[in-house]
Amino acid sequence: MEKGKMPFKRYRQYPNVFLPDREWPDKTITKAPIWCSIDLRDGNQALSIPMNVEEKIIMFELLVAIGFKEIEIGFPSASDVEYQFIRRLIKEQRIPDDVTIQVLTQAREHLIRKTFDSVRDTNKAIIHLYNSTSKVQREVVFKKNKEEIKAIAVEGTKLIKSLRGASKNSSIRFEYTPESFPATELDYALEICSAVIDAWAPSPEEKIIINLPTTVEMSTPNVYADRIELFCRHIKKRESVIISVHTHNDRGTGVASAELAVMAGAERVEGALFGNGERSGNMDIVTMALNLFSQGVNPELDFSDINKIAEVYKKCTRMDIHSRHPYAGELVYTAFSGSHQDAINKGMKAQKKKESDIWDVPYLPIDPKDVGRTYDAIIRINSQSGKGGVAYVMENDWGFKIPNEMQPEFARLIQGRTESVSNELSSNEIKNCFEQEYIKRQGRFQLKSCAIHSENKNSKETIVCALIQDEQTEISIRAKGNGPVDAFVCGVKEHFNILFDVAYYAEHSLSQGADAEAVAYIGINTENSKILFGVGIDVNISIASIKAVLNAINRM
Ligand code: KIV
Ligand code: ZN
Repeated sequence: MEKGKMPFKRYRQYPNVFLPDREWPDKTITKAPIWCSIDLRDGNQALSIPMNVEEKIIMFELLVAIGFKEIEIGFPSASDVEYQFIRRLIKEQRIPDDVTIQVLTQAREHLIRKTFDSVRDTNKAIIHLYNSTSKVQREVVFKKNKEEIKAIAVEGTKLIKSLRGASKNSSIRFEYTPESFPATELDYALEICSAVIDAWAPSPEEKIIINLPTTVEMSTPNVYADRIELFCRHIKKRESVIISVHTHNDRGTGVASAELAVMAGAERVEGALFGNGERSGNMDIVTMALNLFSQGVNPELDFSDINKIAEVYKKCTRMDIHSRHPYAGELVYTAFSGSHQDAINKGMKAQKKKESDIWDVPYLPIDPKDVGRTYDAIIRINSQSGKGGVAYVMENDWGFKIPNEMQPEFARLIQGRTESVSNELSSNEIKNCFEQEYIKRQGRFQLKSCAIHSENKNSKETIVCALIQDEQTEISIRAKGNGPVDAFVCGVKEHFNILFDVAYYAEHSLSQGADAEAVAYIGINTENSKILFGVGIDVNISIASIKAVLNAINRM
């Protein structure tokens, strides 16, 4: 290959479908499809170390707890571990009454018989038969023509039907998959599925499941949706058929394909937690379900403790979950950038004040708490962060409502720190910076004691007597003013000959209750007309303000 030139001419464009009157683009999804988890089959068969029986039991219990009512539990004719696992689930009566297990088989007699045997004594089961139908599979892999490939599907169906009859278990259902459907001519897929439907003879009461996979995803999701809509229009006995989809993620659009397919008429969706599965995975059922949730549709699966689900999944599969994974990744509810933080900060405040609980916070598609995440990490501070983010951390984690006027100065300070350490700062480190800079500021002056009183009951003037340590010397000041801050400022100016004015003042209580501490923020105008802030904390708000003045002066 010539360096720098990708050999794109080796690949062919996937053909469009002629469907000028397509209806699916105008549809919306208003209810959850029938979900079928394939974690224990398709997901498991893609693992470098497949789950052992104990891990499968843990995974099965997780899937039941999430609320799956149909669970493909394995490929029992292909592996003894799968066979043993299925037998154990049945023998130990681990399958709840409202859950149907599903088992996959190829269309070969001995495999079908073994599969049937694996589910003996179950109340309910779906036998899932597949064979590959695409041109390349027919010609290169199986070396069979269309009729012969169709016959494989039909013979398999008939055998399952007769074994079902012999078992007298009428609750055994049937699913057929024309594997490699995207690469199968649509009219041939219809022909083969129609033949299977004839062989099974379903009814509206006992429907057949026809599963149309993107075994390998080959087109944009709209083309897949067109194929599903066309298939739904032309398949025979539509009222006796459940159309199922099973999408993979080769082009990164597994979820989109399944969503558009549901709009196009599919009623059932197979997928796996966090998209585990062959190659780039199966359709991620967590994402699709939470997409529905975020649109106000009941997903009928419970992801309210996503961290716990992720933990069990990781343990059983030994797979990781990317920190950017939709809804579940470590960083997906976290903003580092200043403008996002500012908007989240404002949005969260507005959300708290709202009467309705309809969620509308910028950059957060759902409330992290709805999936069991906390607000602790929604804003994290690094060199990309801004004043809104820093203010959010100080208020939400430590109760300091830093005034807007002061936020840019503190944010610059924090940005300097993050740059100098080339790292993120923790909430604790941010609070320590704030304390060192504004509250426990080391400088020329230290307040040793302070008393505030009025000259007499009728006087509007306040007298402040303070003992101030000025480097090595202790100095007593006594001054009058319109209030404690005014009196203290007059006294300091007079005794120490410093030029400044109070330009800004704000206060609030730091905690609830009678002994709550108050915090005061003072901004002083200095000689070079720069505003410097200081912060003071005390049970007495006047003393807190005086401490804030001295902390600001110490920063001159
Ligand atoms: O991807 C696929 O086509 C499959 C079938 C066996 C359902 O996994
Ligand atoms: Zn698959």
